[in-house]
Amino acid sequence: MSEHPLTSMVREVYNKHSALCDFVCRVNDEDLTTEQNAIFSQLSEETRKRYYGSGIVIPEQLEGKRVLDIGCGSGSLVFILSKLVGPTGYVVGVDICDGLIEAAKSQIEYHQKAWGLKEPNCEFVIGNAEKLDFEPNSFDIIVSNGIVCLCPDKEAAFNSAYRVLKEGGQFFLSDVYSEVDPPIKYRDHETLWTLGTTGAMRWDTLAEVAGKAGFTSPYLGQVGTVNIVNEEYIKMLENGRFVCAGWRLFKLPKDVKRGASRVTYKGNITGFSDALRWDVDLYFPTGEGVEVDSDLATILSASYLNSSFDFCDIQTNPVTKRNQNPFAYLDKLQAEGRQPAFIYTIE
Ligand SMILES: C[S@@+](CC[C@H](N)C(=O)[O-])C[C@H]1O[C@@H](n2cnc3c(N)ncnc32)[C@H](O)[C@@H]1O
Repeated sequence: MSEHPLTSMVREVYNKHSALCDFVCRVNDEDLTTEQNAIFSQLSEETRKRYYGSGIVIPEQLEGKRVLDIGCGSGSLVFILSKLVGPTGYVVGVDICDGLIEAAKSQIEYHQKAWGLKEPNCEFVIGNAEKLDFEPNSFDIIVSNGIVCLCPDKEAAFNSAYRVLKEGGQFFLSDVYSEVDPPIKYRDHETLWTLGTTGAMRWDTLAEVAGKAGFTSPYLGQVGTVNIVNEEYIKMLENGRFVCAGWRLFKLPKDVKRGASRVTYKGNITGFSDALRWDVDLYFPTGEGVEVDSDLATILSASYLNSSFDFCDIQTNPVTKRNQNPFAYLDKLQAEGRQPAFIYTIE
């Protein structure tokens, strides 16, 4: 099947950015842990100057895991994960842009040395998110930062990610979302599409599209403002609002179900000894029981996070939020005079 013209356009635009280094995204350093920020600052200059993410999202409990980064660009997140999975883990980055994949490959040795690894534990391949060419059930964790908004066929992208993720695995997804459907008239506009606006999913369709592929409901982990300052783009986008949002989704074995439970985080995940932040609403402090509904109890007990929790059945029906509205969350932050995790400015 031939490639969608929008995908070819994205490759061309990112190849130019990679060659010219004329554009770089802001890192959401405020909401990363001290350790995560320290790792980012140790990335090579060549990698950092081609960082195009919509807010870095880094899953927890990575040691020894096999991780896939879909739309890895120059590999910023792959190299961070390479440090965190350690010598017994492995990270694969896939992207359609040959220029960025070449730039990423050229930095493997640098990071292998920087992390003190005897052998490289990561690789980069050219490939399309909509038809990932990996074995089914071959990754423990998938991450993706700023690419679904660039995929013309969202369903294919979610189906493809679901196929290659193992049962019990997590899809840690960060992307641009719209509040209402972006105007169709300017869908193919080069700049608006490649900046992630006209291809952005309406936030409330994520659960439906990902759910159809087989994923659990999304939990909102992080929100950043998209600040469009260019008057012409504001007009073309009909004053529509956009956000960057990070979500957790899981692929669970079929037919597993746990009832509402009191779950206690053991504090055993490296870098998260005091508490595990689940989403924008929920924290699991170490050693303290937290009541969660059946859906979340099922995710925690049937995913790889199982070894970090103790479970106790309860007879009550606690309400656990999921599929939270990122725009309402941003409005709440603003009303309270608080800052979002980061701002993505479109000039
Ligand atoms: C906004 S950039 C983010 C890059 C990278 N995740 C980062 O954080 O620097 C989007 C990336 O998605 C890639 N991309 C776009 N459409 C894709 C597709 N269908 N399959 C694979 N990669 C794609 C682009 O080439 C680009 O590298």
